[in-house]
Parts: sequence; structure tokens; C-alpha cells
Amino acid sequence: MTQDRNAAGAQIPQPRPEVESLQAYSAPLEGRRQMLRLDFNENTIGPSPQVVEALRSIPADHIAIYPEYDGLQQAVIANLALPLQPEQVGLFNGVDAAIHAIFHAYGDRGETLLTTAPTFGYYTPCAQMQGMQIQAVPYEGAAFAFPFEAIRQALLEPAGGRAPRLLLLCNPNNPTGTRLAPQRILELAAAAPHTLVVVDELYEAFTGDSVLPHANFNATPNLLVLRSLAKTAGLAGLRIGFAIGHAAVVDRVSRVTGPYDINSFAVTAAFAALKDQAYVDGYVAEVIAARAWLAEQLQAAGVPHHVEGGNYLLLWPQRDPAVVDQELRVAGILVRAMGGKPLIDGSLRVSIGTLAQMQRFWSAYCSIEGLAG
Ligand SMILES: Cc1ncc(COP(=O)(O)O)c(C=O)c1O
Repeated sequence: MTQDRNAAGAQIPQPRPEVESLQAYSAPLEGRRQMLRLDFNENTIGPSPQVVEALRSIPADHIAIYPEYDGLQQAVIANLALPLQPEQVGLFNGVDAAIHAIFHAYGDRGETLLTTAPTFGYYTPCAQMQGMQIQAVPYEGAAFAFPFEAIRQALLEPAGGRAPRLLLLCNPNNPTGTRLAPQRILELAAAAPHTLVVVDELYEAFTGDSVLPHANFNATPNLLVLRSLAKTAGLAGLRIGFAIGHAAVVDRVSRVTGPYDINSFAVTAAFAALKDQAYVDGYVAEVIAARAWLAEQLQAAGVPHHVEGGNYLLLWPQRDPAVVDQELRVAGILVRAMGGKPLIDGSLRVSIGTLAQMQRFWSAYCSIEGLAG
């Protein structure tokens, strides 16, 4: 219950009603350092040595001054090898901050966020803090297929007659891994010019379905693509992400951020990471091979599981998932229990790291679940 006064009887300032009723995005982030972290889909081995070297070489006076961003958009474009202009690349303090800014810039009270379920958990509180309605369309069938027709109908024949303001597509989807072909995304964007179609491509490197090489932002200025250096390049702790789209949209989303939201360490690390694509490619290849290896073990052992895109998969333990989760934790391994999530309640999401890490996971999982392994 809201307390209007504190123990001394002083009035506590009231926030906006949307904030008062908001359930903030919360994730179990503490005490993870010594563990095998398969719970946040992070890079499990750290960034390129060149990133670490660049960070070590930052002179003291660079810490004393505000960060400079010159050339970073160009570096992103060079890394993508696409014919984009710097104004088409927005820089954010992680993709989370980009998502927050998108809702701030485009999500008006009473308008609708259209998305899928289950999907990345941060879209919902961002919509709620703006006072938006949320229409979350479930994935379809045992394979969690993308609900294309239902989404198209919600865009073209919206209940109440008003087109959704925002469509958030996580591709591949976290946590189901569901993939949506770039052409289908373009179809949706072209059919719904009054809706900003945001494609969260955080995990596309592990899948290869990016809409970016196919996008023409002049033809579909309502398309905005999110990329991050968190999951592939290993910069999750430094917080840097990008929103790529039509310059006017990138400008509006960037307007609602602070002037120095990305710190100097993140900028330095980003330059070094973008230059060392070979390191990222090597890591991604290793993860993809480890994903295939783990899927084979699960298949052979008869463990119900679902694996598609992304550096993660879902599996359904025989025993109480909370107990399996806890026993893995005791063995020094963190995974993410999906309890309470629509369609996947009872599953564990396991992030994929290197082959050696997945072998360690599998051996622990087999002994906890009593499998031959
Ligand atoms: C789908 C998705 N989008 C965005 C984020 C946040 O990315 P960043 O670390 O760049 O803020 C995550 C992190 O887990 C995610 O899974």
C-alpha cells in the first residue's frame, strides 16, 4: 500500500500514477562473479584482449573530462559494412536505455504497445511507465512459431480502430529463440506506417536473420533496429548499444537521453571491439557449435527442450525446476528459471557459452537429474 507520510509524519512526494503502480524490471544480478553464468545470455569469456588493452591505456585526464563520441557512429557503420549515414546510428547506454528512450519519445498514454509473449521482460515496464496498453500475442504451437497473422491483424485491424503506436519484435526472440525472416519484418513495417516497428536484434549474430542489410529506411522510416555489444563482444558491464534507422527517428529517440549517457570507458571499449570483429566471429562460432553439441545431448537423453536462434535454449527438467535451479547453483552454475512466463512456465533457460562450459553444465545437470550423461 502507498504510504503518503513517513514515520515522522512528513508528506512523501507522490510520483506519476503510472510509476506508483509500476512493477520495475528486476533480475537476480548479485553474487554472480565466481559462478558459471548461464543466466543472462552474456558473453561467457569476456571481450577481446584488444578491448582490455585499450581500457588499460586510458590516460587519467580522459577520466576527468566528459566523454567524446566523435567517429563512433562511423565505426559502427564500418563494422556493419552497410551504406548508412552517421545520423542513422543512435548511441545509447545499452540497448535497455535505447528501449527506454523509444518509449519515452513515442509511447503516449493510452496508446498500444503490440508485442509477443513470452518475450524480453523490459518492454512491459517501459510501456507501463508511459501509461500505454499492452497487447502481447502468444507464440504458436509447441515450436513457438511467430504469430505472424495475428500480429498483422492487430496492426491492420486494431481493436478500437487505432493502430498500435509501437511494435516490439525481438528477433530471434528471447527466450523462445523464435526467428522471423527479414522479409516478413519488412512486410509488417510497410503495412503499418503509423506504427514504429522496433526490431531488437540483440542475438542476431547467433542466428543471422538481421533485417539491416535488407532495410531501406527511406521507404520504411518506421523501422528501427537495435544492436548491442553486450552479448557478442562481451561489453555487457560497460553498457553500450545502438539504434539504427531513419535519421529523423534516431534523432527523436536520442533527444530524450542525457548529453553524456555513455561513459568514456564504454566508448573506448566500443571502438576496440568494433575493430576486432575476428574475435567476435570466433566466439560466435564457438557458441553455435556448443549449442549444437548441447542440443544433441538433450536429444539423446530424451530431455524436452527447445532450441532455435540465440545463444540460449530452453529445457524442461523432470524434477521441480526451482529445485534443479537451486542444485545447479550449489554446483556453481547459474541458469534462469522461466517460472510464471506464459507458455514456458516450468522451463529453464540456459545460456550457451564455450563447449567446455557446456560440458561442465551437462555433467552437473545429468548428476542432478539422475541421467546417464
Ligand atoms: C532481447 C534483449 N534486448 C535488450 C537487452 C539489453 O541489452 P543491453 O545489455 O545492450 O542493454 C537484453 C539483455 O538481456 C535482451 O535480452
